[in-house]
Amino acid sequence: MQHFSNRQIKEWERFYRANFINSLSGFKPVSLIGTVSSEGIPNLAIFSNIVHLGADPALIGFINRPIEAAPHTISNIQSVGEYSINHINASIIEQSHQTSAKYAAGQDEFTATGLTTVYKENCKVPFVAESNIQYALQLVEIVPIKQNNTFLVIGEVKDVYLDASLIQPDGFIAIEKAGSICSLGIDGYYNAAAIARYSYAKPGKKSAPIIF
Ligand SMILES: Cc1cc2nc3c(=O)[nH]c(=O)nc-3n(C[C@H](O)[C@H](O)[C@H](O)COP(=O)(O)O)c2cc1C
Repeated sequence: MQHFSNRQIKEWERFYRANFINSLSGFKPVSLIGTVSSEGIPNLAIFSNIVHLGADPALIGFINRPIEAAPHTISNIQSVGEYSINHINASIIEQSHQTSAKYAAGQDEFTATGLTTVYKENCKVPFVAESNIQYALQLVEIVPIKQNNTFLVIGEVKDVYLDASLIQPDGFIAIEKAGSICSLGIDGYYNAAAIARYSYAKPGKKSAPIIF
């Protein structure tokens, strides 16, 4: 196994270093975040730094890059207070990747990338019709991360839309059956295949496999 030190990594060419570090933390849950501006213009962007923060209350966070790099999603969330998160499947990878382009503020990125907006009752924000797992979040808090000017945007799960056949008897959602993909770095997309589930681990007791 080769060793790379922080000092060595800092000396690398910046795009090489970015690809290396962006891949290091592993596969991520890549999704499209749908928002709308206060003028009513829909916005869509791909995000993969999405993390479960707690189940009760049901909180999910995502990391937004510095405002200059990614301004529209975060400012729409601040002004409207809601956003949708839409899983990506293999049939919409190309369009989803395209949402990372720096479109002008007034441009509807659903139309620009060829994805379809769908609005639901009681939700102010657009969802992606082609997505098989969609959920709406209510903004709870935006935490600035001083170290690198990024933001942790925290939302509470408001509404969830998916095929009920994906939910196993104990509540686990088999998202691979919906075709949800994952990502690596900022441009690698992967299929997910189930390997195993195990019962709650306890010291001194062997966890039993759960049949899928
Ligand atoms: C696979 C992939 C994952 C990305 N993940 C994030 C992310 O987690 N946070 C982020 O701020 N930008 C992320 N980006 C970049 C945003 O999609 C991009 O900056 C986008 O233009 C932001 O749009 P906005 O200004 O409409 O918010 C990602 C891009 C790609 C291709």
